[in-house]
Amino acid sequence: MSKPLDGIRILDFTHVQSGPTCTQLLAWMGADVIKVERPGVGDATRKQLVDVEGADSLYFTMLNHNKRSLTLNSKTPEGKEVLTKLVKECDVLVENFAPGALDRMGFGWEAIQDLNPRMIMASVKGFGPGPYEECKVYENVAQCAGGSASTTGFRDGVPVVTGAQIGDSGTGLHLAFGILAALLQREKTGRGQRVLAAMQDGVLNLCRVKLRDQQRLKAGPLKEYSQFGEGIPFGEATPRAGNDSGGGQPGRILKCKGWETDPDAYTYFITQAAVWEKICDVIGKPEWKEDPDYATPPARLPHLNEIFGAIEDWTMTKTKYEVMEICNPLDIPVGPILSMKELAEEPSLRETGTIVECDHPERGPYLSVGCPVKLSDNDVTVTRSPLLGEHTDEVLSEVLGYSAEDIARFKQAGAV
Ligand code: COA
Repeated sequence: MSKPLDGIRILDFTHVQSGPTCTQLLAWMGADVIKVERPGVGDATRKQLVDVEGADSLYFTMLNHNKRSLTLNSKTPEGKEVLTKLVKECDVLVENFAPGALDRMGFGWEAIQDLNPRMIMASVKGFGPGPYEECKVYENVAQCAGGSASTTGFRDGVPVVTGAQIGDSGTGLHLAFGILAALLQREKTGRGQRVLAAMQDGVLNLCRVKLRDQQRLKAGPLKEYSQFGEGIPFGEATPRAGNDSGGGQPGRILKCKGWETDPDAYTYFITQAAVWEKICDVIGKPEWKEDPDYATPPARLPHLNEIFGAIEDWTMTKTKYEVMEICNPLDIPVGPILSMKELAEEPSLRETGTIVECDHPERGPYLSVGCPVKLSDNDVTVTRSPLLGEHTDEVLSEVLGYSAEDIARFKQAGAV
């Protein structure tokens, strides 16, 4: 079966997490992704958080599936010769170097356009143009600078970063979207263009509802926040809302049976207005259906602590799965808190390819997250990440057409 990005060749100059997430997605959509790495060194993550001595780390393997690895020292004359040819042969250059690194290498946007006007040059940077554009940025810095940390955690605690890598993987996703749009536009214009995804912008995009609340504050307190019911005044900025739901329907994380010993024996529970009467019946409070203090959403807002306390008295008598079994048929929105262990062992996620097992020559079998987007005409087979320089000769000869003598010359010069 053909793939959506068949025939698209990516010069993958990415490292660490944000850029590699993007190019891995493109590879899963069928692009030929050639990952360029420094000879003898490679992507720094190959040797970060090592769990099997001598093998590429899970950090690297889980972000670089379905790619080819070419080693290249782009700062040597021979390396520049190869890179020049790569730029001419590829459709997209993706990079997430520190600001200015590509210019210092001699491959800034003007140089790229001169070599290949059809090329799309896509970059992840920490910040867009402005006072911080020269800064190097990592995941948690982006979460802090993009509004996530200030709105995550509990009101009376410090700002908290989330486990979801919204700065790195989130920005990689944004960049992939930009690249696909630029590829489509190139069909009409014949020209490439620059695509920039700044990590601060990507995080802020994902925190959109918090900027919504910032503006709503002008109209008065945010009544769906728990702090309203607790009588605590709001300040000037969107506060941390604990586990309150981000939408207009109040929700919280509640204890379930076994919470005393199992750190994940919890459920999310939303008091969706449309199913309020069913909630009252399930938790044994039928009198709340008619009581004017509880019958309508506005009436309930000052009583949320009491209401969720009563719901929790009920959820604590059930496992998180039992809560789901009882509430789902009634359309009461609940969600069990699933641990990574439970997700890794969940058979249905294996069946859909969302969790996959790969085999690796150095480390043996390992689990990874497969392609999270399913297309009916693109059956993704996840193949293991490449060893450092595994495809150097193959790319130099098959893609770039170099002879065996040329390749020997590059090797002698330490360029590949
Ligand atoms: N051949 C020769 N030189 C190479 C090379 C290659 N194949 N690959 C990289 N280099 C060089 C770069 O040109 C750069 O040299 P310079 O400093 O002389 O210009 C050097 O290696 C270091 O690259 P850099 O990207 O600056 O790495 P770093 O370790 O200093 O910084 C980050 C790492 C992630 C902080 C930085 O790349 C960054 O801010 N990236 C943008 C934001 C981002 O993606 N952050 C999230 C990462 S998950």
